[in-house]
Amino acid sequence: MRITLNVWRQQNAQAPGRIVSYPRQDVSPEMSFLELLDVLNEDLIAQGDEPIAFDHDCREGICGQCGVMIDGVAHGPQRITTCQLHMRSFADGDTITVEPWRADPFPVIKDLVVDRRALDRIISSGGYVSVNTGSAPDAHATPLPKENADRAFEAAACIGCGACVAACPNASAMLFTAAKVTHLGELPQGQPERAARVVSMLDSHDAEGFGGCTNIGECAAVCPAGVPLDTISQLNVDLLGALSPRRPG
Ligand code: SF4
Ligand code: FES
Repeated sequence: MRITLNVWRQQNAQAPGRIVSYPRQDVSPEMSFLELLDVLNEDLIAQGDEPIAFDHDCREGICGQCGVMIDGVAHGPQRITTCQLHMRSFADGDTITVEPWRADPFPVIKDLVVDRRALDRIISSGGYVSVNTGSAPDAHATPLPKENADRAFEAAACIGCGACVAACPNASAMLFTAAKVTHLGELPQGQPERAARVVSMLDSHDAEGFGGCTNIGECAAVCPAGVPLDTISQLNVDLLGALSPRRPG
């Protein structure tokens, strides 16, 4: 396949960025998108140019590191991570534009790499449960209705990629935060901190500069883990419960 890659190049957070064009004549449809960047980088290094910086780790849709905007869509044309995207999803002769996540709380480190530690700070503000020290409890010791287990599992699928933020016109991380709140809120172990958790995580979300949710739904439309939009409703229910004064009796 002949593919022209238009790639955002930026030396660091302070430097101005620009799109640089890289025409390729030898793209295999079986290559993953990251493998195309690998091959391009090998050529750039061979000719003495600086390789394109991009994030990646597992290359199997688990770690959430590889997020980039492809033709203006978080992770590109399919609802999967960039490492799972293959060049057969594109046509011979295509021009593809690759950019970093665009959101103030995700400053560009270099080229396609952004700093997503704001998401880690939201997790550390409330993403934990009370535990008794000692040996690990038996997995079946706490009976749990299947419906709750399924909801917790669905939310726990979040890989922290940040696509929801990149896709949202408000740069809101509400789907991410709702996934963390719902994951623990559906489990008995998550109940002691449930009210404090939602307040603390939302405080942290806002302090990091993420925008508010206005129910646009772009987040769930690009989420590679399939975290459902109604986790945000669950977060709002939890928040109302946490902020409402308790009625006597
Ligand atoms: S909710 Fe989905 S899009 Fe957002 S960080 Fe988690 S996995 Fe990524
Ligand atoms: S490299 Fe881990 S999800 Fe893509």
